[in-house]
Amino acid sequence: MARNLKFNIFRFNPQERDYKPHTDTFFLEETDSMTLYIALTKIRAEHDSSLQFDFCCRAGICGACAMMINGRPDLACKTLTKELPDEITLMPLPVFKLIGDLSVDTGTWFRGINEKVGSWIHTTKTLNPDEEEEKMDNATAEEIYELERCIECGCCVASCGTANMRPDFMGAIALNRIARFMLDPRDERTEHEYFEVVGTDEGIFGCMGLLACEDVCPKNLPLQDQLGILRRKMGWSAIKHLFKFKS
Ligand code: SF4
Ligand code: SF4
Ligand code: FES
Repeated sequence: MARNLKFNIFRFNPQERDYKPHTDTFFLEETDSMTLYIALTKIRAEHDSSLQFDFCCRAGICGACAMMINGRPDLACKTLTKELPDEITLMPLPVFKLIGDLSVDTGTWFRGINEKVGSWIHTTKTLNPDEEEEKMDNATAEEIYELERCIECGCCVASCGTANMRPDFMGAIALNRIARFMLDPRDERTEHEYFEVVGTDEGIFGCMGLLACEDVCPKNLPLQDQLGILRRKMGWSAIKHLFKFKS
C-alpha cells in the first residue's frame, strides 16, 4: 500500500513585510520512483502555488536543488522518497542568502569565493589563435577533471561547522579550487602565491577537519584528500621559503 507522506516545509518570504517564518505541513500519497523534485512539484501544483524552490536539470548536474532534507544537505532531484521516513522536513541551506522558502542564492557566494581564490588560469602567455593547441598528458588531465566535477550545489558549505559560524570562511570548496589550479601546468602561480590565498584562518587554518564536507558531497569529491595534500604542501613550502629567506 502506498505511504501517505507528511512534509514539513520551511516558509519565509523576505520580500513581504510582516511575514513570519513558519513551517507548513502537506500530505502526499507516495508514488513509484517519487523524488523530492516530483513531490515538491506536486505540492506546488496541488496545494500551494506560492511555494518557492529551485530546480533546473533534475539530474544531479546543475546543483540548484540542494536543501536540508531531514537535517542533512542533499540534492532534492536525486533523493527518492522511498529512502526517507514517512515524515520529511525540508529547510533551505544555511549560510547562503535566503531568497524564499527553500530557495537560496548560492551564486553570489560562489562568485565571491572564485574571485577570492583567483579561480582561473593565471598565465603571462598571450593566446595566438593560429598556433596549435598545447597538449596535456592524460594523467594530469584526469586528475584535474576529478576536481572539476564540483557542481557548486553548496552542500559542503551548509554542512561545515566553521562556515556556519564564520561568514569569511572559504570552506573546502576554495581549497579544492586551489588544489585544481596547482595541478594545472598552464597556471604560472607559485606555491607561495597559492598559499598566500588559502594559508589563513579564512582558509586552511579555519578548517576543523571533521569531514562533514566530504561526507555530504553528492558528487563524492575527494575534499579531505585535498585538504591533507594542501596542508602537507604548505608545510614544505613554508620551510623552503624560510630557508631561502635565511640564505
Ligand atoms: S573538514 Fe573543514 S571544510 Fe570540511 S566541513 Fe569540516 S571544517 Fe568545513
Ligand atoms: S564540493 Fe561537492 S558538495 Fe561542495 S559544492 Fe561541489 S559538488 Fe557540492
Ligand atoms: S535540479 Fe539540477 S542538481 Fe537537482
